[in-house]
Amino acid sequence: MADPVADLAGAIVIVAGAGGGGIGTCSCQAALAAGAEVVAVERSPEELDKLDLLSRPVVKVQADLTDPEAPAGVVRAALNAHDRIDGLINVAGGTGIDDFGPLVDIDHRGWDRVMANNLRYVAFLNRAVARAMIDAGTGGAMVNVSSVSSLASQPFLAAYGAAKAGLNSLTRTMAVEWGGHGIRVNAIAPGTITTPRAGDHESPEAAKRAIPLGRRGQPGEIAAAAAFLLSPQASYITGQVLAVDGGMSVKLAMLGDDNAPVFVADPEVRARMMGSESP
Ligand SMILES: NC(=O)c1ccc[n+]([C@@H]2O[C@H](COP(=O)([O-])OP(=O)(O)OC[C@H]3O[C@@H](n4cnc5c(N)ncnc54)[C@H](O)[C@@H]3O)[C@@H](O)[C@H]2O)c1
Repeated sequence: MADPVADLAGAIVIVAGAGGGGIGTCSCQAALAAGAEVVAVERSPEELDKLDLLSRPVVKVQADLTDPEAPAGVVRAALNAHDRIDGLINVAGGTGIDDFGPLVDIDHRGWDRVMANNLRYVAFLNRAVARAMIDAGTGGAMVNVSSVSSLASQPFLAAYGAAKAGLNSLTRTMAVEWGGHGIRVNAIAPGTITTPRAGDHESPEAAKRAIPLGRRGQPGEIAAAAAFLLSPQASYITGQVLAVDGGMSVKLAMLGDDNAPVFVADPEVRARMMGSESP
């Protein structure tokens, strides 16, 4: 019989940024469904309460991950509850409305806030978890939730794009430094995902044009990839950034709605490109 896509039976998995009903909550669900025990870290007490509705109980840790004391507290809570840590999914991150604007107007406080919430905490939380894994000699796996914003440019949201690109670099460095301890570290770059926070802003027509699969993604599609990357089924994958984006990141800006390069004006060439699809 084929192995399940992600078997996390008995694994102890920390989900950082576990509330919100989006990628974090779906990551908890996916890990539980794959058989893991979950330690859920969340800043909002209300969001933490909602995790009581998950299919099985989780260990709940209330913490703001940007607090320098948080990583040690999270590891302590996980080890007190379970003696061991096998996996970590870093979901917390994103931006608020104040973070949008032209790069020429960027201010220090906004820059630092975005960096702290998308990049800095991951360095220190992963470091604390890696230390526990190294001390236990058990190895483990980590998944950092990045963004397609890290793969090309992110105009009007420069700090976010830079933070997520930094996260990709950090992922590779951690994979190399910790590979000898049996610790795998990967990142996922989601495209545009419908979550309670991010909403569903683009029209279905815009999604059809920008995304080869023709639709926004669902948080469960990111969570499924995260569970897979944590599991033994991904045992030879480390240091990678996996775009889970319906193909958005491989559709170049030079391609028009019909997927032909916008600068190809010759009607005969266009007709040949479109073949039987041509009107
Ligand atoms: N939704 C999208 O379209 C999309 C696209 C690309 C990347 N992402 C990335 O996916 C991740 C999650 O997105 P989402 O929309 O599901 O998120 P979300 O905003 O719902 O975040 C999940 C949870 O993390 C918590 N959180 C945030 N910062 C925290 C902190 N400092 N300490 C503790 N908890 C904290 C929030 O309270 C929330 O409950 C983010 O890293 C985001 O950058 C999302």
